[in-house]
Parts: sequence; structure tokens; C-alpha cells
Amino acid sequence: MIIRRATSVKSRKMELRSHSLLLLLSLFNFLALNRANEDGGAGVIKVNYKFAGSDASLSALRAHDDVRHLAILAGVDLPLGGTGRPDAVGLYYAKIGIGMPSKDYYVQVDTGSDITWVNCIQCHQCPRRGYHGIELTLYNPRDSLTAKLVSCTQDFCKEIGGGLSGCTANTSCLYTEVYGDGSYSMGYFVEDVVQYDRVSGDLQTKSANGSVIFGCGARQSGDLGPSDDALDGILGFGKSNSSMLSQLASSGRVKKMFAHCLDGVNGGGIFAIGHVVQPQVNTTPLVPDTPHYNVNMTAVQVGHDFLNLTTDVYMIGDKKGAIIDSGTTLAYLPEVIYDPLVKKILSWQLDLKLQTLHDQYTCFDYSGSVDDGFPPVTLHFENLLTLKVYPHDYLFPFEDLICIGWQNSGIESQDKKNITLLGDLVLSNKLVLYDLEKQAIGWTEYNCSSSIELKDEITGSVHLVGAHSLSRGCSVNVQAIFFLLMALLYSLLLPPIL
Ligand SMILES: *[C@@H]1O[C@H](CO)[C@@H](O)[C@H](O)[C@H]1NC(C)=O
Ligand SMILES: *[C@@H]1O[C@H](CO)[C@@H](O)[C@H](O)[C@H]1NC(C)=O
Ligand SMILES: *[C@@H]1O[C@H](CO)[C@@H](O)[C@H](O)[C@H]1NC(C)=O
Ligand SMILES: *[C@@H]1O[C@H](CO)[C@@H](O)[C@H](O)[C@H]1NC(C)=O
Ligand SMILES: *[C@@H]1O[C@H](CO)[C@@H](O)[C@H](O)[C@H]1NC(C)=O
Ligand SMILES: *[C@@H]1O[C@H](CO)[C@@H](O)[C@H](O)[C@H]1NC(C)=O
Ligand SMILES: *[C@@H]1O[C@H](CO)[C@@H](O)[C@H](O)[C@H]1NC(C)=O
Repeated sequence: MIIRRATSVKSRKMELRSHSLLLLLSLFNFLALNRANEDGGAGVIKVNYKFAGSDASLSALRAHDDVRHLAILAGVDLPLGGTGRPDAVGLYYAKIGIGMPSKDYYVQVDTGSDITWVNCIQCHQCPRRGYHGIELTLYNPRDSLTAKLVSCTQDFCKEIGGGLSGCTANTSCLYTEVYGDGSYSMGYFVEDVVQYDRVSGDLQTKSANGSVIFGCGARQSGDLGPSDDALDGILGFGKSNSSMLSQLASSGRVKKMFAHCLDGVNGGGIFAIGHVVQPQVNTTPLVPDTPHYNVNMTAVQVGHDFLNLTTDVYMIGDKKGAIIDSGTTLAYLPEVIYDPLVKKILSWQLDLKLQTLHDQYTCFDYSGSVDDGFPPVTLHFENLLTLKVYPHDYLFPFEDLICIGWQNSGIESQDKKNITLLGDLVLSNKLVLYDLEKQAIGWTEYNCSSSIELKDEITGSVHLVGAHSLSRGCSVNVQAIFFLLMALLYSLLLPPIL
């Protein structure tokens, strides 16, 4: 329930280190070159909570977190490149249509990175079936009437630093995205039509499209390659001014605003781009000049008590505050916060016998209701914004024990050391609003199975946007059918028991 996969935090330093002989380094985010779409309106992306109802092992989750950490550092405008922060984008994925005729692709929504890419036809080791048996599709520009190669002479490529010497009009614009654990995606940029669902009425959408530039991933490694959790690619939702969101916004079609509500109970949830008018949320300012969604945390409260910490501990790590990252599964705190926090939490139950599982998780045997036996943790931020995390959010059952979801970033590898990275552990079941117009982010406790209201910037009308939970792939159904058949066989073959 609580744990999702972590998103990849991408480190610019690592990217640079891995600068490939074959491919130009491209630091740019997903650039959406939108052709004017006559009707305005906000875009809605269906999201699905990747780990909902799944019994994926913790190590798989954790491994995914590492990958996600990589993706986060991918931000292009990051002046402090190389300080690997674990910003992660989605442990949830979206379905988008690409090309003409349009084919469906399942992409992880990653607010921690900016480049969007999908597995491409040249990819010889790309997965055909992935997370929950979802059928994956390799994108083939030749199959799409609207596909165009992006040349390294195009402004887009120049802006991302791809226009190196030897660049001619018929040279492609190459990219390499390296993630924190060393996994990567390499390929070239293409421009094609992306289909999305435009809000057209209460709980209603119409298909709309826009031409966007994205990566055609020819080579993926690590968890991005074949794995049980593979998807078609990554949809970068970072705050770079070249992101899809920014491009949409600059075309005047949507406010530079989006929101997600990750449903930790039922899976799926709400992910909407546009001017969210309901629920209204209190916000805290984004720290400027950071590549991710960073905010200043000011205090930590356990039950009624505040941890006795000096204000400078919140500035530890990269000194850029806490990163809000929907792509990261867990929540990472610097040692100076983590240690007293966990000590305080555990002081509520004096006779717990602690065990460490998989070298990573602090766990204990506990049979009561965790919400009765443990305190809520309230994180305080600038502008008096608070984030209340309940015991059922930060404690999760694992191998017959209860484990603590808070992680000590003091033991992470160098780039992530002592950073504060707040992932889905603390963000689920809340509406999280990213308001780039006001450079602020906020949240409120919310029922992610319900709906929110978006204002159409063109017509001024307000429409409901509801929750989705994309159906799973067919492998589950195949299994179900298999068991049904077996049951049938048994009932036919076995004599009735008298
Ligand atoms: C994009 O949308 C326009 C207007 O709705 C439509 O005419 C066009 O066929 C669409 N293009 C694709 C590739 O779907
Ligand atoms: C690339 O373009 C140059 C001139 O623009 C031309 O001389 C060359 O033949 C082209 N190469 C290919 C492979 O098309
Ligand atoms: C993005 O930011 C860069 C530098 O910060 C600036 O040069 C560029 O004009 C911006 N692009 C847009 C579309 O705002
Ligand atoms: C966050 O904290 C830093 C360091 O104390 C401070 O400079 C900054 O003004 C604070 N607020 C924002 C929104 O950056
Ligand atoms: C808080 O910590 C400071 C120094 O670390 C100490 O002097 C002070 O007594 C502590 N306050 C409480 C209420 O424990
Ligand atoms: C992380 O924090 C701990 C506790 O303050 C400190 O001992 C350690 O040196 C820090 N690590 C880094 C890389 O700053
Ligand atoms: C959340 O909203 C859904 C849809 O409106 C509703 O069916 C459900 O009962 C709500 N859950 C809670 C806990 O209010």
C-alpha cells in the first residue's frame, strides 16, 4: 500500500562522466513544441499507482528507488549539477498515444526529470511485456506518418547543447540520460504527435494532440531494460522551462500548474495539468535556482512534541531544502533528523525488538493497530504549511513484521548524502499542487478516489476531473483464466467426494 517504487534521480555529474563516444549529451527535458490546438483546456493524464495491490518485494522497490533517483538529476537547468539529490518522479505511470496512427505507450510520470523518452524500434533488448503484464510497444518513427527526426541544427538541439562540431542538417540530435545507479537511456530525438485527453466537461475528456519532441530510446540499461517492472519509457515532469508543461503553458493553453493525487488505497489517482481551483491548498514557496521542486522544511513534530533541532539541520546536504518528489517511493532524511525522529517514534512502544531486513529496513514485530500505537509525524514548512504523515503511511507490513518507511540519507551514496527527499511515502492520499506561475507548491489531505476542479483558461468554465486506475496488463487475466481452466478440469476429472 504505502511503498511505491522510487523514481530515478539523475545526476548531472554522472551524466557528464558518462558522456558517450557515440552520443551527444543532452540535458534537456522533454520539449513540447506544441502546435496551436484550437481549443484550450487543461490536459488530464490517467495515472496508475504502480505498486497498488502488488506484492513486489521491498528490495525491488528499493532498487527502483535507486533508479528513480537517477532520473531526478536529469534536470537541465540545474546550476548545482552533481549533487545527486533523490528527486523521483512517478512510481505511477500514464498512458499516452504517440504517432499517426496513434499507438499507446505507458510511461512513468517523473516529476524529478525533464526528458521524455520511449523505447524505440532500434532497441534490441527492450522489454515487450512489463509491469503487471502490460504489453509494451516499441516506437517506430517509420510507422508514423507524423514522425520527424530532430536535426542537430534545430534550435531545440542547440539549446540542449547537442549542436556540436560536425553537425549538419542531416545529423540527428542525440541524447544520453544517465541515472544514479548507472542505468541509462540513449537515443535520438524525434518530433511526433502526442495524443492526450483534454478536459471537455465534468468528468469528460476529448482527445487532443500536439507535436512534441521526445527521445527515441535505442538503448536502455539497468531497470530501464527488461524487468518485471518495465514500462515504455519516462515522462519527465520536472520544472525546467523547456518541459512539456512549460511548453504547453507558453503556448497559452494551460496555466503552468499541475496536480497529482496518488491513491495509496485504491491505486491510480488523479494527475491533471492546468489551473486547479478546487481543492484550494496552502502553499510554500519553491526555493529558487534549484532543478527540482525544493522547499524549506522548518521543523519536525512527533505527536505533540517537536524534535529539538537547530534550524541549520534543515539546511544540511545540498543546502537547498527538501525535495518534493512524487517519483520517489520512500522518504529520505538526513541523519541529524532521521536519528532523533526514529528514536522518538519508537519511544512510544518500549518493548519492541528491532530487526534489520535486507540491510535496509528497520522492522519490528507489532500486532496492534499502528495508528493507535504510534504517533503521527508532522513536517513543518515555510509559510506555515504542514504535512501530516500518519503511522499507516510511514509504517508498512513486510515479511510478517512492521517496517519503518523513513530512510536515513546519511548512509546513501555521496550524491544523495543527507538530502531530504520526500517521496510517495508522505505524498500519497494528498492532493499535491505544483504552481509554477507562483513558484510554489502545496498540498492538502484529499480523497484521491474523488475528483478535483480545473478551470478552463479559454472559456473560464470549471470542470471536474476524476480519478483513474488504468487496468492491468493481461498476464493477470491469463493467470486467472488458467486457474479457472484448472478448476474446471479438476471438477470434471475428479470424482465427487461422497
Ligand atoms: C490532431 O488533432 C486535429 C484536430 O483535432 C486533427 O485534425 C488531427 O487529425 C489530429 N492529428 C493526429 C495525428 O491525430
Ligand atoms: C548530409 O547532408 C549533406 C549536405 O547537407 C550531404 O552532402 C550528405 O550527403 C548528407 N548525408 C546523408 C547521409 O544524407
Ligand atoms: C529558459 O531558460 C533559459 C535560461 O534560464 C533562457 O535562456 C530561455 O530563454 C528560457 N526559455 C523559455 C522558453 O523561457
Ligand atoms: C529557504 O531557506 C534559505 C536558506 O535559509 C533562504 O535563503 C531562502 O530565502 C528560504 N526560502 C526560499 C523560498 O528560498
Ligand atoms: C534543545 O537542545 C539544546 C542544545 O542542543 C539544549 O540546550 C536544550 O536544553 C534542548 N531543549 C530541550 C527542551 O530539550
Ligand atoms: C551526514 O550527517 C551526519 C550527521 O550529521 C554526518 O556525520 C555526516 O558527515 C554527513 N555526511 C555528509 C556527506 O555530509
Ligand atoms: C472517496 O471518494 C469516492 C468517490 O467519490 C467515494 O466513493 C469514497 O467513499 C470516498 N472515500 C472516503 C473515505 O470518503
